[in-house]
Amino acid sequence: MDLKEHIDLEKLPSHVAVIMDGNGRWAQRKGKERVFGHEQGVKAVREISEAAAELGISYLTLYAFSTENWGRPRDEVSALMKLLVQTIGEETKTLMKNNIRLQAIGNLADLDDRCLEELKEAIQTTSGNDRMTLILALSYSSRWEIVEAARSLARKALHHQLDPQHIDDNLFALHLTTSPYPDPELLIRTSGEYRLSNFLLWQIAYAELYFTPKLWPDFTRNDLYEAVIDFQKRERRFGKITSYSDGPDYVS
Ligand code: FPP
Repeated sequence: MDLKEHIDLEKLPSHVAVIMDGNGRWAQRKGKERVFGHEQGVKAVREISEAAAELGISYLTLYAFSTENWGRPRDEVSALMKLLVQTIGEETKTLMKNNIRLQAIGNLADLDDRCLEELKEAIQTTSGNDRMTLILALSYSSRWEIVEAARSLARKALHHQLDPQHIDDNLFALHLTTSPYPDPELLIRTSGEYRLSNFLLWQIAYAELYFTPKLWPDFTRNDLYEAVIDFQKRERRFGKITSYSDGPDYVS
């Protein structure tokens, strides 16, 4: 039986987030430049996006470039930016074909002009698609996002637009870049590292975490199915006891 047939389509995680790790090691193991690994990583991005949309997952967030990634050698950063521009440009057709809407989170002002233009255009072109939302985290880090939210709330309080007593989980979440989307229910990290690397720290409070030794360029649709099957075997209690665990105490 095909792995996909083991998935209960009624119990899919509505939002899956992925830390795509291991491109560099994948390339080095093959005696190639790290950039070759990122290029192969794009193929996995395509396959996983299509597979997630076909399955019926509503939101897929991919950690494509972290704030910390700016600290990589200049050649690698510019190769990654070039790859992003090229991929976003070339893949808009595939996104349209698959009825996928593209969105982005992160400090997008940091991206170079070409990348930002390409991104804005793809977001605009795909804005009417409604099968799945693909969210690219670009120049993103959770601490950056949380600090920005705190700043924004503090500014409102300073201008008497907000009573600090009214700040709660819901209001805070509304000031994060992810406010239009539900929290991820499943977080996948490839490459055998057991870290969260400053990714969606607020949003994954109740997510199930799935770590696999596979390097990102080797991650296939079957690996996604395995992660979803594993997710469906887990009992999600949200800090409550079994018979009362319908969802988290707050809605974001
Ligand atoms: C981590 O591997 C991966 C990245 C920093 C970038 C991910 C980018 C892509 C898959 C290509 C472009 C993506 C899109 C959405 C168009 P690593 O370099 O940290 O690998 P290592 O841990 O083995 O060094």
